[in-house]
Amino acid sequence: MKNIVILISGRGSNMEAIIRAAAAEQWPARIAAVISHRADAAGLAIATHAGIPVAVVEHQHYPDRVSFDRALAEQIDVFQPDLVVLAGFMRILSAGFVEHYRGSLLNIHPSLLPSFPGLSTHRRAIDAGVHFHGATVHFVTQELDHGPIVAQAVVPVLRDDTEKTLAARVLTEEHRIYPAAVRGIIEGRIRLVDDRVRHDELFESRS
Ligand code: GRF
Repeated sequence: MKNIVILISGRGSNMEAIIRAAAAEQWPARIAAVISHRADAAGLAIATHAGIPVAVVEHQHYPDRVSFDRALAEQIDVFQPDLVVLAGFMRILSAGFVEHYRGSLLNIHPSLLPSFPGLSTHRRAIDAGVHFHGATVHFVTQELDHGPIVAQAVVPVLRDDTEKTLAARVLTEEHRIYPAAVRGIIEGRIRLVDDRVRHDELFESRS
């Protein structure tokens, strides 16, 4: 059994989608822990309800990013993770942290990277007038919202879309591609080779 550690900041709907898929599809992995930097993250209750150990490492108790990231990594490593999954984890990570988990740190970003890295992606997509938007699962590298792409999903931007309606359409796709990507990596069908993602089979969203 491989160990997956999930990091969240809030709602935790992507975390929940992964927990559900792991159980329903009997992955050869356990969600070893869910960790948040906010004690009030709603997703913590969902994880606890699912019987998953949770931990909180509050960033405001640390004088700077590097010391917080060190404490966070210490807590993560208690669970001996094979894969660390950022699921709506809204913290910029230090270079040392990213290096420590190189090749085993995954993120989902609500845009078709490399378009719209950073915040407010749905608002910016509407303002830019793009016809298509979506979500990207990628390995984390030193550059924010960058790194080898594992999976993408595309949604149309409709004429009457608001930030809210577009976000909801994208989120539905996030809940589909993130569990599939995590499973592919855990099962060794999706691998990082020379900083590029290799799929043993064509990933569904690319066919
Ligand atoms: C998702 O849209 C994710 O892509 C972004 O933040 C949101 C988190 O939602 N990084 P949730 O906490 O998974 O419900």
